[in-house]
Amino acid sequence: MGANLSVKKRSKHKKSSSDASNNSDSSNTFASSASFDPSSLSQTRSSDGNFQYIDGRRYHIAEQTRYALPDDDEEVYRLQVVHYLLRYVWNSNFSAPVEEMLQNGAHVLDVGCGPGTWTLELASEYQQSTFVGVDISPMFPSEIKPKNVSFLQLNATKGLPFPDDTFDYVFIRWLTTAFTEEQWKNAILPELVRVCKPNGWIELGEPDLRLVNLGTNGSRWNAALSSYLSKIQVNPSTCYTLLDLVSSFDSLSELSTDSRDIKLGSWGGKEGALAAQDCSDFMKAMGPRLYELLGMDGEEYARFVETVMREFDTGRSFMKYFRIWIRKEHEMNGLKGEMIKKKKKDKKMMKERVDVKTNHNGMRNAVGIQ
Ligand SMILES: C[S@@+](CC[C@H](N)C(=O)[O-])C[C@H]1O[C@@H](n2cnc3c(N)ncnc32)[C@H](O)[C@@H]1O
Repeated sequence: MGANLSVKKRSKHKKSSSDASNNSDSSNTFASSASFDPSSLSQTRSSDGNFQYIDGRRYHIAEQTRYALPDDDEEVYRLQVVHYLLRYVWNSNFSAPVEEMLQNGAHVLDVGCGPGTWTLELASEYQQSTFVGVDISPMFPSEIKPKNVSFLQLNATKGLPFPDDTFDYVFIRWLTTAFTEEQWKNAILPELVRVCKPNGWIELGEPDLRLVNLGTNGSRWNAALSSYLSKIQVNPSTCYTLLDLVSSFDSLSELSTDSRDIKLGSWGGKEGALAAQDCSDFMKAMGPRLYELLGMDGEEYARFVETVMREFDTGRSFMKYFRIWIRKEHEMNGLKGEMIKKKKKDKKMMKERVDVKTNHNGMRNAVGIQ
């Protein structure tokens, strides 16, 4: 599965009337750098009650979620590209041992499904199975979709509206920027475990947003991103904490993890070029959150992103991406103690594996793994 890297370009974001009105005065959008005053950053900002519009991009209202990325057609397209990139890099859509289960008919939940690309692809491949995708944004298709798929709009930090033990396979991918560690620990992971059936599998896929081998400008950008995320209590390297968090659940065992280094730039061939393009789109999508921290207006920021892109090749930059998968235990009564011991052993072995890989990539100090 998944060796094809071709991606169909979606039509560009059609501006809604409110978008258009927000951008009508393009001269006001970008202040000239000569007269730049960071305290009066020039952006077109407005809100229609549900969303805010900044420089032509549509974002959630901050009070409803800390999620910092936009919610518009450009972002839908970016997420589709990320899906095909990840499928190519891993040569698969998942790592948990669920192939047979999916073939035979399983109930699958995709939390924070975005446009639902992963869900829709699996639904057409595994037609005996049923899929539910949930997301705070209605980015997913509401009408034209396969019979074995449904989507629900909800805020996952407020709990999932499903009974205990509903799904055979619970999947969550690329939600690093969405949740604080407190939310992962006390809201998200407990809910994933609760709705997973005994013997079912939970799979997480998250990047380390502290990129590796960046140049001067890239490091500056990455530091601004970390600083913005820390202001909203989001850890850019939450992938490492998630390993500890999932292994702390008594009801989970058989923890496994694996990682890939996703090369950024043409030094990584076709895959690297696509990953760098996605990174640039991600930087642009995060732009309005970072202008102030970097003391730039939108125009300067756009030029800055180009310099970061050029540095990718010089430095041979890459991003680390992890998959973590773990099984919900069957109630084993007397054997429960044995299972917990096994889980502790799994956790120790898994940490050693991460250490070895981390050392190999010279990242040990960068990621702070002990
Ligand atoms: C980076 S996208 C990943 C989408 C999808 N998992 C994928 O891999 O293509 C993160 C998604 O999480 C959603 N999200 C953010 N905060 C959320 C929340 N509190 N509850 C549910 N979904 C949320 C966003 O709307 C966005 O679609």
